[in-house]
Amino acid sequence: MIDQRRRRMLDEMGLTVWRSRGQADPTTDAARPATSAGDWAGLVASIEACQRCPLHATRQRAVPGVGDQAARLMIIGEAPGAEEDRRGEPFVGRAGQLLDAMLAAIGLDRHQDVFITNVIKSRPPENRDPTADEIAACRPWLDAQLALIQPSVILTVGKVAAQSLTGSRQPMGKLRDQWHRLGETDIPLRATYHPAYLLRRPDAKARAWDDLVTVRRALRELPA
Ligand code: URA
Repeated sequence: MIDQRRRRMLDEMGLTVWRSRGQADPTTDAARPATSAGDWAGLVASIEACQRCPLHATRQRAVPGVGDQAARLMIIGEAPGAEEDRRGEPFVGRAGQLLDAMLAAIGLDRHQDVFITNVIKSRPPENRDPTADEIAACRPWLDAQLALIQPSVILTVGKVAAQSLTGSRQPMGKLRDQWHRLGETDIPLRATYHPAYLLRRPDAKARAWDDLVTVRRALRELPA
């Protein structure tokens, strides 16, 4: 019944994924990995010990993510900055404070209602954009987090996360204001501006607000 409601909602969002018979649906199949505290602790330890790309040599701390491991909303940014690298937690600098305020405006708290992470878990030196190789090397960790959390909705913040998770090269202005889905799954994905961009361009805040309201509505309407 819940599956039918979910399918109907996804249809309305234009996100139905058609599969051939027998093909697995990673978002609804019982064959998904069981979630346990052990799985999670092991995953975090693996991320913290990861040496899959050269960034492990320059990072102070890996930044796996923060929040509810059963969150219905997963927020995915680009990469840890200097403050995140020092504290081991994503979005704790000025941009993070704005993200927290944006979440609070739709009634969500970073520790209880969402899981926040980045496409890469180690800081690129000088805050440069992550390279395609770094993103690819880190992707198994994000995929493992997605498999354990099984979010109902994903919100990407910023161009790097949006492009890397939709596979599109379109600019942010084109990527937002429409539903995407994550890869071959039917997990709805919405793209919005990075809070660091909003700090520089407050005129874009109204559009970011529209994005958040759309995400909040989807969370309400999609069955848990
Ligand atoms: N910007 C990001 O994309 N992620 C962080 O964790 C901090 C700043």
